[in-house]
Amino acid sequence: MSPKKVRIHHFKEMKQRGEKITMLTAYDFPTARAFDAAGVDMLLVGDSMGDNMLGMESTVPLTVDEMIPFARAVSRAAQHAFVVADLPFGSYEVSPEQAVESSIRMMKLSGAQAIKFEGGRRIARQVKAVTDAGIPFCGHLGFTPQSENALGGRRIQGRGDHGIEDLVADALALQEAGAFAVVLEMVIAPAAKAVTEALDIPTIGIGAGSDTDGQVLVWLDMAGVGDWHPSFSKQFGSVGQAMTDAAAAYVGEVKAVTFPGPEHRFDA
Ligand code: KIV
Repeated sequence: MSPKKVRIHHFKEMKQRGEKITMLTAYDFPTARAFDAAGVDMLLVGDSMGDNMLGMESTVPLTVDEMIPFARAVSRAAQHAFVVADLPFGSYEVSPEQAVESSIRMMKLSGAQAIKFEGGRRIARQVKAVTDAGIPFCGHLGFTPQSENALGGRRIQGRGDHGIEDLVADALALQEAGAFAVVLEMVIAPAAKAVTEALDIPTIGIGAGSDTDGQVLVWLDMAGVGDWHPSFSKQFGSVGQAMTDAAAAYVGEVKAVTFPGPEHRFDA
C-alpha cells in the first residue's frame, strides 16, 4: 500500500502517464479501511448503498441525510484513498443553488473530498456552480441509475445513430463545467473509447470495457457478496461465503460448548 494521500491532481497525471485509476464503492469504516489498505485510489460512497446496503428497491428513495453517516465513516477510514460521495436523486436537479447547498452539506458533514452526481448537458449549470464553489466534482454518464425510470430500465447506453456523439458532447460539457473525472456506466466500449480520447480529464468505467482511464465496481459485486452480480463485473473473492462459513463455525462451537474456551474467559 502507498501511504501517500491521493490528491485531485494525481488523476490527470495518472491519465497522462497511462496508469489505470482504481475506484471501489465503500459504505462503512471497516470495508473502507480494508480497501484503503489495498491501495485503492478512490473510494466512492455511492448512492448504490440504497439498494445494496439498505434494501431499498432502487437508489431513488435515498436522501443526503441518510448518506452522511456512511460517507463520514468512509472518510474517517481513508488514509490513502480520495473519497467521493454521491448526491442522491432529488438533491441537485432543481437548480444550481440546490446543487451547491447539497454539495456543501455533504462535504462539511462527511469529510469527503469530492461530489458526484448524474447527468450531462442537462445538469451542466449545476456542475459549474458546484466547481465555482470550490468543490471537486466527478461526473456520471451512460446508464445513470437515478434515471432508471426515464431510461426504461438498466439498458446499455451509447447505441443508436447519435449514441457516441451524444455521450462525447455530454462528457465535454462536464469537463468544460469543471469536472475532474467522469464515470461511464454500462456504455458500449467504442463509446467509452471515444469519450476517453476526447477528454483531458480521466474516465472511470463500469461495464464500459478496458479503454477507460480507470475502473470502478460496486464492492459487493467485486468481492462475491450475494448470489448475483452484473455480467460486466467479476467476483475477485467469495466474501459472502466466507462470512456464512465463519458464522456457521461460531454457531457450531457455541452449541457444542467449545467456544468460549479457557483462553477466552476472565478469572477472578
Ligand atoms: O452509486 C454507485 O455505486 C455508482 C457506481 C455504480 C459508479 O455510482
